[in-house]
Amino acid sequence: MSEQKSWSDRFESALHPVIARFNASIEFDIELLPYDLTGSIAHAQMLAHTGIISEAEAQQLVAGLEQIRSEHQQGQFNPGIEAEDIHFAVERRLTEIVGDVGKKLHTGRSRNDQVGTDLRLYLRDQIDQIRSQVREFQQVLLDLAETNIETLIPGYTHLQRAQPLSLAHHLLAYFQMAQRDWERLGEVRERTNISPLGSGALAGTTFPIDRHDTASQLGFEQVYANSLDGVSDRDFAIEFLHAASLTLVHLSRLNEEIILWASQEFSFIALKDSCATGSSIMPQKKNPDVPELVRGKSGRVFGHLQGMLVLMKGLPLAYNKDLQEDKEPLFDSVKTTQACLEAMTILLREGLEFRGERLAEAVAEDFSNATDVADYLAARGVPFRQAYNLVGKVVKKSLAAGKLLKDLTLEEWKELHPAFEADIYEAIAPNQVVAARNSYGGTGFEQVRQALEQARAQIR
Ligand code: ARG
Repeated sequence: MSEQKSWSDRFESALHPVIARFNASIEFDIELLPYDLTGSIAHAQMLAHTGIISEAEAQQLVAGLEQIRSEHQQGQFNPGIEAEDIHFAVERRLTEIVGDVGKKLHTGRSRNDQVGTDLRLYLRDQIDQIRSQVREFQQVLLDLAETNIETLIPGYTHLQRAQPLSLAHHLLAYFQMAQRDWERLGEVRERTNISPLGSGALAGTTFPIDRHDTASQLGFEQVYANSLDGVSDRDFAIEFLHAASLTLVHLSRLNEEIILWASQEFSFIALKDSCATGSSIMPQKKNPDVPELVRGKSGRVFGHLQGMLVLMKGLPLAYNKDLQEDKEPLFDSVKTTQACLEAMTILLREGLEFRGERLAEAVAEDFSNATDVADYLAARGVPFRQAYNLVGKVVKKSLAAGKLLKDLTLEEWKELHPAFEADIYEAIAPNQVVAARNSYGGTGFEQVRQALEQARAQIR
């Protein structure tokens, strides 16, 4: 007989020490402690409300659990491997504090519905934090857009110069992605906020518990209608990993652009010293480590999503110990997402500067106004496809002559087509090219001002 074994007297000896370590989750599920305590307090109160234990007993349990909370806050609650997991660790310490009444806490409950409850309370909190970080990130994008409505930046397709853009329009594209992330996380929150507590090990319990009582104490909107589903569902975790993955896809795309923009070839932005690093050997270098790290870290979360899908796909009902493997990927994804959002918000707020002169040069030095020449003719009655072919020829000739469209003389224009007038020069000036794209959702300054207005209202 060993003092160390956690379960019933059916077992005669303790676990092999290697197996004990293999089996234990305490090293990582300690993260759930505050939620485990909150869940247990609600359960103890409910046991008293339903007369399963006395009011005095519940008070003792609650006081003991609160003591564990403050011990933890003071760094004095450090259960070892022998506790196996956070649930056993709490029950043991509770029994040390309050005596035998501590052993009543687990009445009508299993670690299976308990761990599911903890995980949902944890994730609900983290989702709230991530959503407010997304809001901050959106605010920074808005602030940056606000001051750059008339800053022009080349727009690309296939990473080839396409048409010039308002920089604000470019930034607001990321605002919209973040808006969808915020909404999606809100939807995941709804499906996270359902109580499995009272599902028991798998089949419910013989005690006259009140599942709605614990659910409402814990702020859950609903209770699982089926106890088997309650203890074995991890859809909410997978949905979160999916939402976090998309959030990081968006951050990663923006970071890819920042990395390009910071290169000497683009030189659209300058990184400030507070958010860039140097090289240990090449003294001239300033590296975009923050965007590179965010781009790199995103892969971890995509991997965790895949891992969790594989974890679940072969599980028969109901609880299986495989489910203990849901925690580390979830915790890592939460922390990675929070850290990336935090770093990105700082980077955009104070870590980089758009180089206005270089951007103005960039939009003037190419043929990204060619569509506007075709549009010019089309607006004057030339069928668009014919105009398009004609402008193609002009571009070819200009390239050969080492000229840009703005360098052609009026005679040259008129030779190409009699419809050209002196106003062609204004029509192909970058500012006008951008301003003219005033269709809904386009980059025209008027549209961008309206889009900014709407964006502000969206996050108010
Ligand atoms: N540590 C376990 C987990 O994380 C808690 C639930 C254990 N339940 C069981 N029947 N062994 O999933």
